[in-house]
Amino acid sequence: MTAEQATVVRFHSLGGPEVLQVEQAPIGAPGAGEARIRVEAIGVNRAEALVRSGHYIEPVREFPAGLGSEVSGVIDLVGPGVTGLEPGDPVSVVPAFSQNDYPVYADRAIVPAAAVLPRPDGTDAITGAATWMAYLTAYGALVEPGIIHPGDTIVLNAASSSVGLALIQIANHLGVHTIALTRTATKAAALANHGATHVITTGPETDAGSQFPAAPGRRGVEVGTGLPATAGQPGLEAGAGLPAAGQHGLHVGADAPAAPGQRGVEVSARPTATAGQRGPDGSAGLGAVPSGDLAAQVKALTCGRGVPLVLDAVAGPGISDLAQLVSPGGTLLVYGASSGQPTPYPGVDLGLPALTIRSYTMHELSRDARRLARAAAFITAGLRSGAFRPVVAATYPLSDAVAAHKHLESNSHLGKLVLTVP
Ligand SMILES: NC(=O)c1ccc[n+]([C@@H]2O[C@H](COP(=O)([O-])OP(=O)(O)OC[C@H]3O[C@@H](n4cnc5c(N)ncnc54)[C@H](OP(=O)(O)O)[C@@H]3O)[C@@H](O)[C@H]2O)c1
Repeated sequence: MTAEQATVVRFHSLGGPEVLQVEQAPIGAPGAGEARIRVEAIGVNRAEALVRSGHYIEPVREFPAGLGSEVSGVIDLVGPGVTGLEPGDPVSVVPAFSQNDYPVYADRAIVPAAAVLPRPDGTDAITGAATWMAYLTAYGALVEPGIIHPGDTIVLNAASSSVGLALIQIANHLGVHTIALTRTATKAAALANHGATHVITTGPETDAGSQFPAAPGRRGVEVGTGLPATAGQPGLEAGAGLPAAGQHGLHVGADAPAAPGQRGVEVSARPTATAGQRGPDGSAGLGAVPSGDLAAQVKALTCGRGVPLVLDAVAGPGISDLAQLVSPGGTLLVYGASSGQPTPYPGVDLGLPALTIRSYTMHELSRDARRLARAAAFITAGLRSGAFRPVVAATYPLSDAVAAHKHLESNSHLGKLVLTVP
């Protein structure tokens, strides 16, 4: 009898997006503690681009190699000893395993059953694949450490990323204010629409523009859970701004046109501090402000205090600028290294301030059953209430994984890219 075949995306050497190939590969039955998934959608993450190019924290073990750690679909088969999962159940698979061991860029994939979560009623497959990496990472960085309280302000860079947008939504849900950093004015406008309390454009990256249009059937950036909106919620399209904690009803600058559906959020390429616009933390009401002295701008927004938590997805030499934003006793949490550059320890140069610097990956919690269960409860509740709405930038068919990776590496997207299995 010939073995069953799955359609998989693999690569035989490290390199750019073009190394990805669509192939047929045998797929067996799930072993003990495993489940086989009929995949419907696959979340595309920076981690996969780093694995593919040889820059990830865990190197490729052997070729041909597969990719991916986050999918949604339905249960196909379960292995011995697996309880609570039945063939046909709609599920999401959360990143809780090595891509070397369980690659999921495929139409069928075997994964550890411990990484499988039921998909809430009404959550479509694309949303189911766009949620967990971003929201688990954000939850573990913002909520779990217990550093942050309602009314606090945090700083985050790469705010337009799927993790960044999840951080903004979770912060808003908790009454925490955000100072969101982006390198482009276009994304600054979008971030204001997506609920950032303040946006600082750090430059000097030029706007990526619309080189990568939304996938067919998608209208620009889309916000959706696939769950019905609750009363009073905005629609599920770009520009339906989430109300930010402490958001101020300000003007839309003529130099940055408002997105459709924009709701009283200031977007301006000019500094726009205005009397009387202060959040509950006493911060001044600035919208998007031009690049310049980051520390001075953050101090201006926080009455000179700085912030108790800075979340850094970029690392590299810029860490020194970020360390200066932390208030005494606060934390700089490094959870990514998008700069690709060596990261100096900034403490000595800054005169040994009372600063905690720590690194973090979401595997800390996703591989711990108790912590994953708590995080999943928090995130599922947010999805159900409509507080959390994963932002999908574009979708591509699995066979077009090369195009999806090119899009990811263009940094022109806002939110998540998703592969779909026809
Ligand atoms: N620790 C963990 O467990 C974990 C889990 C998931 C993701 N991550 C990390 O979280 C970050 C976001 O990941 P993602 O998959 O959600 O989104 P992503 O696609 O990696 O985010 C893209 C955005 O990051 C910003 N960016 C990229 N390169 C940059 C650079 N050199 N300097 C400054 N900003 C840069 C850009 O935003 P602008 O153009 O707006 O500046 C870009 O649009 C990545 O660093 C990723 O590795 C960590």
